Amino acid sequence: MDMAGVAVFFLCVVGTSVSMAAFTPSNNYLLACGSSQNVTFLGQLYVSDSVQSSVALKSRGDSFVVTSNSTAPFSIYQSARVFRSTASYRFDIKRQGRHWVRLHFYPLPAQNLTSASITVVTEDFVLLHNFSFDTYNGSYLFKEYAVNVTSNSLLVTFIPANGSVAFVNAIEVVSVPDSLIPDQASVAPYGQFDGLSGLALETIYRLNMGGPLITAQNDTLRRTWENDGKYLHVNSSASNVSVNPSNIKYGDAVAPEIAPNYVYATAESMGDASVSNVNFNITWVLQVDPSFSYFLRVHFCDIVSKSLNSLIFNLYINTDIALGSLDLSNKAGNLDVPYYTDFVSKVPEDSDTLTVSVGPDINADFPNAILNGLEIMKISNEAKSLTGSLPVDTLLVLPPKKHKTGIMIGSVVGAVVTLILCGLCYFCLVAPRSKEANQRSSWLPLPLYGNSLTMTKMSTVSQKSGTASCISLGSSSLGRFFTFQEIMDATNKFDEGMLLGVGGFGRVYKGTLEGGTRVAVKRGNPRSEQGIAEFRTEIEMLSKLRHRHLVSLIGYCDERSEMILVYEYMANGPLRSHLYGTDLPPLSWKLRLEISIGAARGLHYLHTGAAQSIIHRDVKTTNILLDENFVAKVADFGLSKTGPAIDQTHVSTAVKGSFGYLDPEYFRRQQLTEKSDVYSFGVVLMEVLCTRPALNPVLPREQVNIAEWAMTWQKKGMLDHIMDKNLVGKVNTASLKKFGETAEKCLAEHGVDRPSMGDVLWNLEYALQLEETTSALMEPDDNSTNHIPGISLTPLEPFDNSVNMIDGVNSGTDDDAEDAATSAVFSQLVNPRGR
Ligand SMILES: *[C@@H]1O[C@H](CO)[C@@H](O)[C@H](O)[C@H]1NC(C)=O
Ligand SMILES: *[C@@H]1O[C@H](CO)[C@@H](O)[C@H](O)[C@H]1NC(C)=O
Ligand SMILES: *[C@@H]1O[C@H](CO)[C@@H](O)[C@H](O)[C@H]1NC(C)=O
Ligand SMILES: *[C@@H]1O[C@H](CO)[C@@H](O)[C@H](O)[C@H]1NC(C)=O
Ligand SMILES: *[C@@H]1O[C@H](CO)[C@@H](O)[C@H](O)[C@H]1NC(C)=O
Ligand SMILES: *[C@@H]1O[C@H](CO)[C@@H](O)[C@H](O)[C@H]1NC(C)=O
Ligand SMILES: *[C@@H]1O[C@H](CO)[C@@H](O)[C@H](O)[C@H]1NC(C)=O
Ligand SMILES: *[C@@H]1O[C@H](CO)[C@@H](O)[C@H](O)[C@H]1NC(C)=O
Ligand SMILES: *[C@@H]1O[C@H](CO)[C@@H](O)[C@H](O)[C@H]1NC(C)=O
Ligand SMILES: *[C@@H]1O[C@H](CO)[C@@H](O)[C@H](O)[C@H]1NC(C)=O
Ligand SMILES: *[C@@H]1O[C@H](CO)[C@@H](O)[C@H](O)[C@H]1NC(C)=O
Repeated sequence: MDMAGVAVFFLCVVGTSVSMAAFTPSNNYLLACGSSQNVTFLGQLYVSDSVQSSVALKSRGDSFVVTSNSTAPFSIYQSARVFRSTASYRFDIKRQGRHWVRLHFYPLPAQNLTSASITVVTEDFVLLHNFSFDTYNGSYLFKEYAVNVTSNSLLVTFIPANGSVAFVNAIEVVSVPDSLIPDQASVAPYGQFDGLSGLALETIYRLNMGGPLITAQNDTLRRTWENDGKYLHVNSSASNVSVNPSNIKYGDAVAPEIAPNYVYATAESMGDASVSNVNFNITWVLQVDPSFSYFLRVHFCDIVSKSLNSLIFNLYINTDIALGSLDLSNKAGNLDVPYYTDFVSKVPEDSDTLTVSVGPDINADFPNAILNGLEIMKISNEAKSLTGSLPVDTLLVLPPKKHKTGIMIGSVVGAVVTLILCGLCYFCLVAPRSKEANQRSSWLPLPLYGNSLTMTKMSTVSQKSGTASCISLGSSSLGRFFTFQEIMDATNKFDEGMLLGVGGFGRVYKGTLEGGTRVAVKRGNPRSEQGIAEFRTEIEMLSKLRHRHLVSLIGYCDERSEMILVYEYMANGPLRSHLYGTDLPPLSWKLRLEISIGAARGLHYLHTGAAQSIIHRDVKTTNILLDENFVAKVADFGLSKTGPAIDQTHVSTAVKGSFGYLDPEYFRRQQLTEKSDVYSFGVVLMEVLCTRPALNPVLPREQVNIAEWAMTWQKKGMLDHIMDKNLVGKVNTASLKKFGETAEKCLAEHGVDRPSMGDVLWNLEYALQLEETTSALMEPDDNSTNHIPGISLTPLEPFDNSVNMIDGVNSGTDDDAEDAATSAVFSQLVNPRGR
């Protein structure tokens, strides 16, 4: 360890043990870009970017400087550096870890900067993509990111769009205390998210409830906290309270760096303290981009109570209970002591807002609820991006073969120019080229994101033309193209009487084509970027897949910016509606087994039937549809992903899917495998048996989640206690036992412990055999019920050639071959006793 390192280490130890000592960042770069002199802004010195010695401008092209004397609102906005081609700032990082990367943009009127298109990336993350003041209402833009730097330098690269320029007025790269942003956070209503330390964050909201604007000057980490008033759902629901900031006592658990005492010294409390309505709450509504997940930090400090244990309330995120019966002074240890908690949350379906609410607890003596501060940060997505879905390597155009030395135009004087030229020469010539090659190869291989890439490109195309541009998808077998008029005729102008259902993507109508064929017509919500991606995925996936147990796509319509998919009509609707919530007659056990087997076959085909396996990602009882003969078919491929390539074990991705069905491992690690579908299918099996929803929040705590609840009974071998009452006494116990064991294995905590879909299929077939042979047999002995693992050693192979999964080739279903093969294998099961 060098001397600087020792000093840094020493500083940190001192910094954490003496809680009042202010945090001193190891790396603290404040740059005034394009300025010829140092600039003071909010009490700190921003050094001219042509001076600071440990920062190097690594320009692959030319940049120039623009300045203005009077018109800029802040001193750092009086100059900007403008890039005509890709250019990077390189910061030496003395101590690795999370860093603030703060960017200031102000389009100086002296130049034509409002139409500039700005893209900013680090080595790993896309921070900003294609931002332009043309489509932005503010006069300046401030962005704050927190990225974990794990090498000795950080490159901040500016990429102008073709034919345009990019610019920046000021850059800050500043160390963040390690303890500020943890690796884990809770997921409401329960669950945990791991792996934040590898992800980039962008501050979206930082609110000081009931208090004034706090600027960088009043925060040791130079954060800005805004008043919350304009995000209140109902103004009168809250009233501000405050105490003297010096009253705030930081305990051992919360360091002053977490938030300044000004934040904890003010709060919003219930507007009318006499309101005893248990449904009363204070709600903040925060607009966000729904395609990302968010990190939320809630700050509390009991500044309202006279005595301990008198302020007890609930915190809700969206509609989920995030903290129930929070006894604030008990959690914090005392009155006036700060307390905070972290969450990770997705945006609810069909919404572009996150809501945070606090409301009184029914058990509290004095009903009240408060919130002191709230931070919301966007979490980078699967493409390691914070804007859009393109990863760094596709945004960075390959550098030209010949390195041109940058040409500097502007007010920079000769001596400085020489200095920079030396720097440039160093980076262009001395810095080995192989380094770039290494970086490139360490970036994610393209195929992983191949899908989303093509999807994004395609969506641009179709938005522009608005006609039958799907044809340009590259495959000619996307099913039939319908005109919008044909769809209108088929659905009687989207008659609400023909409505079959409403989902995340849009509405589904019953329709009749000219020839009398009945179809289901899914109409996407227009203009939802997310929706376009899912629309494309679904067309692409379904047009390649033909299987008896997958709902088939008949055609589509994308006229007039519509996103309409036409499917075969499934007369008996979703499986769920035959389980509960409707008046439909209960299904027999045999039929339930057959339906489960059908769905398992569909999923098994997805996982194994193609050259590259497909992960459904949203397996649930509403996505298993039944045709007029109660044949189960898997539907809704909007979220599907191509599975891991051979040399990888998982696909890393932002968590999508439906709560209650989500694989806990997928949620924690954001790593998607086929086993995530297996988990969701286990939930489906439990739902089929117990005829209740996967999540039912009105039930007592331990019963809310079917997976947990059914597992406790299954482990006791008493699943029959919670099964559908209609089945009691009508089920072969061995069959039920096999079914319960199968579901249990599917719901294993770790993916590696779960069976493959093929094994699940085997076990369900076996459960069906046991049910069918009930009359002929006594209870089969335990050995025979447990021999399934042995069978799974000989993999099922009927799926290789018999079922087609080839791009563009549509030779129809070939289930007969499959069924022949499976029945041959299963024939040995017909009489388990005979073995
Ligand atoms: C700007 O600040 C840097 C670092 O504090 C210093 O080395 C430099 O001389 C200053 N430049 C001017 C023009 O004041
Ligand atoms: C700014 O002001 C200085 C003197 O006050 C003047 O020399 C310079 O030309 C001005 N620059 C611009 C861009 O207006
Ligand atoms: C600003 O940009 C627009 C469009 O790129 C161009 O038409 C216009 O001439 C530019 N104005 C100046 C002053 O450069
Ligand atoms: C960038 O944004 C502009 C609108 O601001 C849009 O017209 C253009 O297509 C976008 N480019 C890319 C590559 O997304
Ligand atoms: C800009 O403001 C106008 C009017 O206030 C509003 O209609 C428009 O949606 C805003 N645009 C953006 C990108 O926020
Ligand atoms: C950039 O624009 C030029 C002409 O305007 C075009 O020839 C070139 O292909 C474009 N490059 C990219 C990468 O789009
Ligand atoms: C940064 O990443 C490294 C390597 O993944 C990890 O060991 C470290 O804990 C992370 N630091 C923070 C503050 O998240
Ligand atoms: C707090 O409430 C009072 C009275 O309603 C109001 O005058 C004051 O501006 C509020 N303070 C803040 C910071 O919102
Ligand atoms: C912020 O700091 C300034 C100067 O240090 C001080 O005058 C001001 O009162 C502080 N603001 C708040 C909200 O504490
Ligand atoms: C609520 O408060 C916000 C900001 O304090 C204000 O802009 C808005 O007009 C208020 N709404 C009502 C209905 O009073
Ligand atoms: C908050 O109160 C509103 C009515 O004011 C209610 O509709 C909503 O469900 C409540 N939210 C929670 C989380 O209780």
